[in-house]
Amino acid sequence: MSLTPRIDGDRLLGRLDAFAGIGATPAGGVNRQAFSVEDRRARRLLAELALERGFTVFQDGIANLFIRREGTDATLPPLLIGSHLDSQPTGGRFDGALGTLCAFEVLEALEDAQAETRMPVEVVAWANEEGSRFAPGVMGSMAFTGADAATWKSVVGADGALLAAELDATITALPEAALRPTGIPISGYIELHIEQGPSLEKEQLPIGVVTAVQGTRWLEVTTQGTAGHAGTTDLAYRRDPMVAAIAAIHRLQTTIMPLDSSARLTVGRIAARPGSINAIPQSVAFTVDIRHPLAEQLDVIETEVRQVCAAEAEAQHCTAMIKRSFDMPGAAFSPDMVNLVEEAVNSLGLPHKQMISGAFHDALFLARVAPAAMIFVPCRDGLSHNEAEYVEPDDAVIGACVLLRTAIMAASP
Ligand code: GLV
Ligand code: MN
Ligand code: MN
Ligand code: MN
Repeated sequence: MSLTPRIDGDRLLGRLDAFAGIGATPAGGVNRQAFSVEDRRARRLLAELALERGFTVFQDGIANLFIRREGTDATLPPLLIGSHLDSQPTGGRFDGALGTLCAFEVLEALEDAQAETRMPVEVVAWANEEGSRFAPGVMGSMAFTGADAATWKSVVGADGALLAAELDATITALPEAALRPTGIPISGYIELHIEQGPSLEKEQLPIGVVTAVQGTRWLEVTTQGTAGHAGTTDLAYRRDPMVAAIAAIHRLQTTIMPLDSSARLTVGRIAARPGSINAIPQSVAFTVDIRHPLAEQLDVIETEVRQVCAAEAEAQHCTAMIKRSFDMPGAAFSPDMVNLVEEAVNSLGLPHKQMISGAFHDALFLARVAPAAMIFVPCRDGLSHNEAEYVEPDDAVIGACVLLRTAIMAASP
């Protein structure tokens, strides 16, 4: 006879602590970058916990890790629930790990209660979501949904390591996990994640029901001038690409976001060449990260960036070159899957709101091949990609309860 499946809060919180110990930094965060020794240790721990419970463990060619509990109808593709275990170099202990460990807690809760689901349920830990060591991020979910992983084999990491070698070592470090091909059909995907922003905490809501993920576009701008002597070159003779870059960035910051509260524009990296204190630079390269929920607005903003950079370069007798390095259109989640999350939240009587994700996630890619949805929980001060990232234990457990209820409904239609 089966019981009603229940989340074991103490077990979940203990697991969160155990995984936070893998790659722990002195400041209380984690450094568990993709395909590193620490990433391999976290994958091993999850696989060992799974095998102890009698679940089956698989991995694919990009090191996505799957933990399967069978359903009653072997003809149905699995419902996937999960997130990622890799982290930023100075990452928090919840980004990715919370969703992965809540998903594993759901699988254990089903097993504890001997509960039957029609579909198999699989926990997934997507490989290299962060992309901070090996760019781009969301590699695992992109490969799973059809991207050609072969193109990344020659990628060299921020630490000089070769992706192909580190990926191979990661896969061979887990011989217990049978290798399986990418592109298996799935019935749906649900991902729990911290919000990584402040709105749920500010509004004192324990749950965000995510209806869509906004689009992201990355541009690489290079302004070119003429290198020259800092002490001898008169203003009239300068072609200073730093002045052009700074003017363009300032103008973009004072126009795009102040005029459109949904727009985001961030210059996160800037470098002058040759980068000498007493030389006018020859060139200045900077990145632009643009986000917007409306695809057409990404085009409008990109056009504006191009025009502003060209005009400010021209004003300094310089030139501007702009390359689009990454384009990730947003996606709306399946209304059916979002409704299931709503139903689960309502059945638990939890205050919540529907919201759009400002960050991208693996769920963005899964939404292109199956009904998908996300559940957000608050994080303190909206902090993420920061070692101080913190989630209240009660909020973690509430999130797991919502994931459990949603998964039960989704896995037994
Ligand atoms: C993902 O980390 C993002 O930049 O949205
Ligand atoms: Mn994440
Ligand atoms: Mn992250
Ligand atoms: Mn992310």
